[in-house]
Amino acid sequence: MSRTPIIAGNWKMHLDHLEAIQLVQNLAYHLERADYEASELVVCPSFTSLRSIQTLIEGDRLELRLGAQDCHWEADGAFTGAVSVGMLARLKVAYVLCGHSERRQLFGETDEITNRKVRAVLAADLSPILCVGETLEQREADRAGEVVLAQLRGSLADIGADALERMVVAYEPVWAIGTGRTATPADADEMCGVVRRTIAEDFGEPVADGLRVLYGGSVKPGNVAELMRRSEIDGALVGGASLDPEDFAVICRWHRL
Ligand code: PGA
Repeated sequence: MSRTPIIAGNWKMHLDHLEAIQLVQNLAYHLERADYEASELVVCPSFTSLRSIQTLIEGDRLELRLGAQDCHWEADGAFTGAVSVGMLARLKVAYVLCGHSERRQLFGETDEITNRKVRAVLAADLSPILCVGETLEQREADRAGEVVLAQLRGSLADIGADALERMVVAYEPVWAIGTGRTATPADADEMCGVVRRTIAEDFGEPVADGLRVLYGGSVKPGNVAELMRRSEIDGALVGGASLDPEDFAVICRWHRL
């Protein structure tokens, strides 16, 4: 089965809405039709920039898709500071990151919380990008596969195979995020394969065949092509390098490198 690749930029807590607009304008200037045809191109700004970027995308008819970095699982209520999936859907957000390792490590989010978010995103007909990945300690103890498998099963509890059609998983080893240390393409490919096999076991081969599995962790212009050549890797979740429009444009151009 051929899977449409995804290149997604996760801006984290960078860029105010004016800087975000500038970045997208600059990025769009560097992108060509062939780049939009080769992959779905996604940007995930902070909540305060979503509306501005949505307006820019619509006004300039850009083919970029919008992603959010997080959400709350309830539809509404007394949850000070939280943003619901319904609010994101109204801004034409297509993707929502769930369980990013920074949410897990810095905000104490568990697989159970991630699972609630994934279910809320799926229920609203949006696509979750579920992030999983082991720490350096876990990798060195030879536990990477086991950790990723447990995160996947915990985060996908009580979800039916039908709902998984829109699901995206990002394998992001924690030790490679923001460190400049990338997993080797072979290691990244192997772990993306572990993700796909687990999904095949739990939800069946057709779901696993259609599932897009991204790699994330220090993806840069210099390593993206080699990563994308691997059969189990269907795209990249890019942090640092997505903040530079020229670098991110080169990453979006992986198919021509
Ligand atoms: P990085 O971040 O590309 O800066 O390593 C990736 C991520 O956190 O999604």
